[in-house]
Amino acid sequence: MGPIKSAIIGTGSYAPEKVLTNFDLEKMVDTSDEWIRRRTGMVERRIADENTASSDLGIQASWRAIETAGIDPSEIDLIIVPTVTPDMFFPSTACFIQKGIKASKAVAFDISAGCSGFPYALVIADQFIKCGTYKTVLVVAAETLSKITDWTDRSTCVLFGDASGAAILQATEENKGIISYYLATDGNYSDYELLGIPGGGSRNPSSYETIDKRMHYIKMRGQELFKLGVKAMAEAGIKALQYANLTLDDMKLVIPHQANKRMIDAVGDSLGLPEEKIFVNIEKYGNTSSVTMAVALDEAIREGKAGPGDYVLIVAFGSGLTWAGIVIKL
Ligand code: ACO
Repeated sequence: MGPIKSAIIGTGSYAPEKVLTNFDLEKMVDTSDEWIRRRTGMVERRIADENTASSDLGIQASWRAIETAGIDPSEIDLIIVPTVTPDMFFPSTACFIQKGIKASKAVAFDISAGCSGFPYALVIADQFIKCGTYKTVLVVAAETLSKITDWTDRSTCVLFGDASGAAILQATEENKGIISYYLATDGNYSDYELLGIPGGGSRNPSSYETIDKRMHYIKMRGQELFKLGVKAMAEAGIKALQYANLTLDDMKLVIPHQANKRMIDAVGDSLGLPEEKIFVNIEKYGNTSSVTMAVALDEAIREGKAGPGDYVLIVAFGSGLTWAGIVIKL
């Protein structure tokens, strides 16, 4: 038996029923199905109804992960929720999820790391497990980007969707689980116009002016972000593999953040990856921020694209700028 590692013992995902297609978007802004498909690879996305918040989606994904793991919620020691669309500033979304799944002994908190939130949270979970503090941790990414999308701005509104994805990690002495990781942050790219929401926080508290200036919606400079994201994800993948002493040949699957199919292709090209090794589901969900990789991991396992003993590499980038790579042995 070796040192303690964090095994993934269950995954789950959930998306609201309502589907918004590219053709629906054609009726809302000056865009076309052809443009969206060609420039992003997206075909449809899911949209939560007005009474549904991120925690509601997170609870559904958590139940599915709990079921796959075959545990009782009372066994969960810690809940970490990466999200850029919390239910509210506070209480944290993690507290609502803790209540919803009746994980009464779990400590619960949110983290803010943009779209890199899922791998960041996996690494935090791994630290608590490795140092012996907690045995069983639920990481559940939950997002309702539709609620912070400017539906009059065609340069952003075609990109985003709502969903949630969860993974349960548990201490093991077997050689599996989180094998290596690389996390990075560069606050020099924290300019909210590159990617962010300027209104509502302590810098620009909510006011008639912040509403009039549409400051509560996502701002983004897409082209600049595209280049930064491709470079960051490729670097994160290379570093995480180096730390694991493994190569891409050892990986069964690579799961990149699903922000744009052309970005995913560019990361694949720069790493020299064959297309069949890259997991893509962007056509179904669009960009769901921290959730994309959690849903992809769950679907990859359920579809049999990766299974016990296989290595999977996750690469992410997000606002901040944050970026991350993580090697997992299932
Ligand atoms: N429909 C039709 N035309 C459009 C649309 C649209 N929805 N949006 C923009 N255009 C137009 C532009 O106005 C521009 O027209 P012009 O040439 O007459 O000026 C033209 O299309 C090209 O625009 P670009 O911005 O250069 O298009 P690009 O190929 O860069 O694609 C995109 C834009 C899809 C946003 C791309 O830059 C991208 O995906 N960037 C990265 C986005 C990203 O990573 N976001 C992170 C997300 S945040 C998170 O994950 C939560």
